[in-house]
Amino acid sequence: MSNPSSPELVSGVASLRDRLAAVRGQRGRIGLVPTMGALHEGHLSLVRASKSECDCTVVSIFVNPSQFGPGEDFQRYPRTLQADLDALAGCGAELVFAPAGEDVYRPGHATWVEPGGVAEPLEGRCRPGHFRGVATVVLKLLNMVAPDVAYFGQKDYQQATVVRHMVEDLDVPTQIRVCPIVREPDGLAMSSRNAYLSPAARARSLVLWQSLQLAATLVDEGERGAETIVRQMRQRILTAEDARIDYVALVDPESLEPVEEIVGRTLAVLAVKIENTRLIDNCLLQPPGPRAPVA
Ligand code: PAF
Repeated sequence: MSNPSSPELVSGVASLRDRLAAVRGQRGRIGLVPTMGALHEGHLSLVRASKSECDCTVVSIFVNPSQFGPGEDFQRYPRTLQADLDALAGCGAELVFAPAGEDVYRPGHATWVEPGGVAEPLEGRCRPGHFRGVATVVLKLLNMVAPDVAYFGQKDYQQATVVRHMVEDLDVPTQIRVCPIVREPDGLAMSSRNAYLSPAARARSLVLWQSLQLAATLVDEGERGAETIVRQMRQRILTAEDARIDYVALVDPESLEPVEEIVGRTLAVLAVKIENTRLIDNCLLQPPGPRAPVA
């Protein structure tokens, strides 16, 4: 039996637009939470943020093939539509938009968004073509839903940065909000991919959060050398026997260029494989400001 407070499930773009035209007719604000499903508390926090600012919240669920590279987990990515609808029931999202693959990429689809600049380092280097797929599908979703605001999680910091730049460069009239990372009580950042981890690997994956905390502690204690901090972060990660590091970096939070010295707000960001599951995480480091002069 369907839950009475479940959001309405829409799969066609035409019926989505009809439904949203009614909201716009009443001058309602529309919020979009783009997801690939397998929803967890991190996604639900974005839904709540949208609920607090918008009159109608649309959650899109679409496992976007074009952002997965060869050999990545597109086939096995969890597809849990009924559980997702159940999870959303308590959050008050009005609409779930779950289009079929062929409705997003129709036969003959040949137009792509090629993000440059902030899409190039880090994930861009490790996953060639990933942000081309992300930017293209996000722009398509923004065009289909035409939301006033779209919500992204800070866990995918670079993705949110790429989207912010795309929206600005292409004059898309949607505000982009980036919401804080939601963590498990032990610090592991929530991710749909955590479900791949065996219990033992789940325990080892805590080295990601530990290494970010270590970076914050070193900065608090006065260390300013990026090389020293990154070296210690890597050492902490490699205490997990099967950890394979894709990158550990300290970068400028706007340009995502590496920094040599911590002089202001800096992003510590990493991607690590544990038991063949690729996990990413990040945190903003803030060196304590100059002390007020003693009178
Ligand atoms: O973050 C995600 O889940 C995806 O990259 C997104 C933004 C829904 C695009 O497919």
